[in-house]
Amino acid sequence: MISKQNQLSKLNELMKNCSQCSLRSGCTQVVPGAGSADAKILFIGEAPGKKEDEIGMPFVGAAGKFLDEMLGIINLKREEIYIANVCKCRPPQNRDPLPEEIAICWPWLLAQIKTIQPKLIVTLGKHSMERFLPCFRISEVHGKAMRREIEGMGKQIFYTLYHPAAALYNGSMRETLIKDFKRIPKIIAKIKTEEK
Ligand code: URA
Repeated sequence: MISKQNQLSKLNELMKNCSQCSLRSGCTQVVPGAGSADAKILFIGEAPGKKEDEIGMPFVGAAGKFLDEMLGIINLKREEIYIANVCKCRPPQNRDPLPEEIAICWPWLLAQIKTIQPKLIVTLGKHSMERFLPCFRISEVHGKAMRREIEGMGKQIFYTLYHPAAALYNGSMRETLIKDFKRIPKIIAKIKTEEK
């Protein structure tokens, strides 16, 4: 049987040749995602920024440093998780990804989710949350875990967080994000207990 890692590598190669939306012609490279194919937690951000576009890895700029800091607080290493984005190509001037761009990129994200089969999907920011939980407001659901059935995916547990970039220079949002982040180990423990 082909390993999850091999499946992800094959998927990444296909993604790198994608030019289904106009973002690809304006960016340097496709940023598929990074981490362990066996990750229990899949973090999903919005789209690559300048630095990510240059390096080809997700969350390597200022928001990524903050994300690493929070992962450190809960003793998680990047190698143990997987990080992807709803859009794999950088939007011009770091604008928000458009609904049609998110829709065109969705089959790639869906394939990543189906391959990794994470126990928990942590959405980072409004655009990521809205892909899965369109009826909610991030201000109301951040820090809450919920199980939802998603078309094409089946049942999945989601945990919504504010985007690290939004919280970076906003003191109270930063505090909230750190507090929400620190709940991740308990959520994972609860999922494991419920599986027994
Ligand atoms: N912001 C995101 O949403 N994703 C990245 O990869 C980097 C910054």
